[in-house]
Amino acid sequence: MSVHKNVKKVTTHVLQTMKNECEKISMLTAYDYTMAKIIDDSGIDVILVGDSASNIMAGHETTLPITLDQMIYHASSVVRGVERALVVVDMPFGSYQGNSKEALFSAIKIMKESGGHAVKMEGGKEILESVERILTAGIPVMGHLGLTPQSIYKFGTYVVRAKEKEEADRLINDAKALEKAGCFAIVLEKIPSDLASRVAKELTIPIIGIGAGNKVDGQVLVVHDMLGINNEFNPRFLRKYNNLHKEMKESFQRYINDVKSNDFPNESEQY
Ligand code: KIV
Repeated sequence: MSVHKNVKKVTTHVLQTMKNECEKISMLTAYDYTMAKIIDDSGIDVILVGDSASNIMAGHETTLPITLDQMIYHASSVVRGVERALVVVDMPFGSYQGNSKEALFSAIKIMKESGGHAVKMEGGKEILESVERILTAGIPVMGHLGLTPQSIYKFGTYVVRAKEKEEADRLINDAKALEKAGCFAIVLEKIPSDLASRVAKELTIPIIGIGAGNKVDGQVLVVHDMLGINNEFNPRFLRKYNNLHKEMKESFQRYINDVKSNDFPNESEQY
């Protein structure tokens, strides 16, 4: 039986039941009220207020510049549009690394001011103390391993991570440490499918992939990418469900023509 069809409100426990019953978890990003409402109405399980808002909404080259207050603005807009999905909010760069007291403060601020249901943090053992401290406040934490975009200046490139044994072993150990600490799920970004599959098998919590193959417990995509709004991002892992860039541009051009030709507004479109 489908778990997700019978659930009025998705919780971390529902996600665990989905993993236990081998039902895949669907997750998309959203950054605003209107998009979040459409995605939630579609029956998605998890909405991620990703720090990809830094790229998608603000046009920055990386996820590093977005601030805690900006994430809270996006997250509170999303929360107002959602009735059913679990809303997970990314902790932005600089709000949790290396200082567990500040991490707890940031996570509490996100939960209080946005109304989100959980936070997501990038990293493994190096952020474990912060993860543990946030969990003590009763805030659910989703981990994020593999290609972690907040570390782009350490990696130097957005290529596939953990292809070599040393990094793969480290990733498995990090995933196990995050599970042991109490994370309710982990995102694995842009790693070999076999490695992701191994993590999903060896861990009991849900593993959500992006560019990590289909032998994991669920998938996440950035909504603007899967809708084809952004036509400049075409990685191999991305399936585009629309070409909204083209459709939107055509609509804008028709509108411009209608205004210029005085076709809009017509008799029935005025008072
Ligand atoms: O910020 C984001 O959109 C993410 C997803 C790519 C997982 O972290």
